[in-house]
Amino acid sequence: MASRRDFLTFSAATVLAGRIALPDGTSTGVDQSGDEPSKLAADPQRPRYHLMPPANWMNDPNGPIVWKGQYHMFYQYNPRGAFPESMHWGHAASADLVHWKHLPIALAPTPGGPDKDGCWSGCTVVEGGIPAILYTGVFPQVQCLARSEDGMRTWQKLAGNPIIAAPPQGMQTTGFRDPCVWREEDEWFLAIGSGIEGQGGVVLLYRSRDLIHWDYLHFLCKGRRDELLPGKDPVSTGEMWECPDFFPLSDKRALLVSTQGAVIYSVGAYENHYFRPEVQGKADFSDSYYAARSMPDGTGRRILWGWIREGRSEAAQRAAGWAGVMSLPRVVSLAADGRLRITPAPELETLRGKHHHFGGQPARNEFSIRGDSLEIQAEFELGTSDVAGLTVRSSPRGEEHTSITYHRTSAQLLVEREHSSLSPDVDRGPQGGSFTLAENETLKLRIFLDASVIEIFANDRACLTSRVYPSRPDSLDIGRLAKGGSARLKALDVWEMRSISADRLTT
Ligand code: FRU
Repeated sequence: MASRRDFLTFSAATVLAGRIALPDGTSTGVDQSGDEPSKLAADPQRPRYHLMPPANWMNDPNGPIVWKGQYHMFYQYNPRGAFPESMHWGHAASADLVHWKHLPIALAPTPGGPDKDGCWSGCTVVEGGIPAILYTGVFPQVQCLARSEDGMRTWQKLAGNPIIAAPPQGMQTTGFRDPCVWREEDEWFLAIGSGIEGQGGVVLLYRSRDLIHWDYLHFLCKGRRDELLPGKDPVSTGEMWECPDFFPLSDKRALLVSTQGAVIYSVGAYENHYFRPEVQGKADFSDSYYAARSMPDGTGRRILWGWIREGRSEAAQRAAGWAGVMSLPRVVSLAADGRLRITPAPELETLRGKHHHFGGQPARNEFSIRGDSLEIQAEFELGTSDVAGLTVRSSPRGEEHTSITYHRTSAQLLVEREHSSLSPDVDRGPQGGSFTLAENETLKLRIFLDASVIEIFANDRACLTSRVYPSRPDSLDIGRLAKGGSARLKALDVWEMRSISADRLTT
């Protein structure tokens, strides 16, 4: 293990109410336009029960970990505004997976250092009781190490960074980033996202005894040329795999990689330090959900987090003073058919407030409950109908509305956003994926609405995340939707969700 003096002191400062202080002393909870927290709190598009920084830009979850009875979440963060530049590691902690307390920024770029242009994604491990972060410094992309000896309040970077200065010799890689580290007996293993031009994404595998000196072994796993998509850049084509996340699941292993606009999972066998995928799928149908990372939670569960991107213009994001949201915690397990089962963490039920129950078929297609901070559970018998589902965020006359529907003939679960907003500035393409109900199986939707965020879970086997930005303050109605036939809504349960925003602003 490295000694204390091998690490440079990086002292992050304190968190002021609603703001995060930077190591250089400047206060940062606001963007460069000088927006105040009250403006953000009043923003109708800003989620109220999802984890997000007090202001500014965030993207990937980084190194989620349970340590000393607390959940710790780090994330890609730009303290200078709602745009992606000069990445830092933001930090928050939680005792219950739902309410979060902001902590000082964990990592900031060091001028002249190997991370001078950004501290990109990575992971957190604990070695001999000392937490360590392994992350990517840019540019060029190299791997770095930092440790904390004061209970994760401040982090010291290794003076000898980078710990891995370049990809393996002679390899023409499309990228080299986002380490994921685990222990096997007395050795550490590190997987890095990479790819080979024209050939496909790869995960490179390294081994170490001390987290500092790493030997390259081989590809942990390799994509296939016939899986590449047409496109402009290696991430969208599948020639670059970002954010690998590799973990045990029952008697199998799972690998997540972020590429081709999605988080793609494989479940398979891990033998002799090679991973052989057997089953593949998407962790979430939509491109609104990305860069997922998981953690074991100490009770045998695997909790998955993802970055929920914006679906509006860069100018709108800058003007709002915030961009990016952390997904709700999702529990990952292995389904009987070998695929991933991903469901919302039960802890989210503690946010449920007033409950509304509607049994049987309503007289009209609308319900008397409205809102944009809700959990909705609906169960449909499809009967002879081809399409069934709900509309949400609907204005009283339907000028704005978003449809969440199952389409039997095309076997699709969809969010249709064409009429989701009257604003010209937002994404309105459909999002979804293939989903088939068995004969006589009911459609069970669990939907979390939180201002501009929608997270949908269908029959415990499909996740679909979306963003909508209704422009009207009265776009709050819920409705039933069915095309043709005899679809029947068996039951609808709606809970008004409590805000965690008060906690977002506590120190
Ligand atoms: C994924 C990603 C990572 C990178 C980080 C930079 O969204 O591109 O590959 O480390 O974001 O913020």
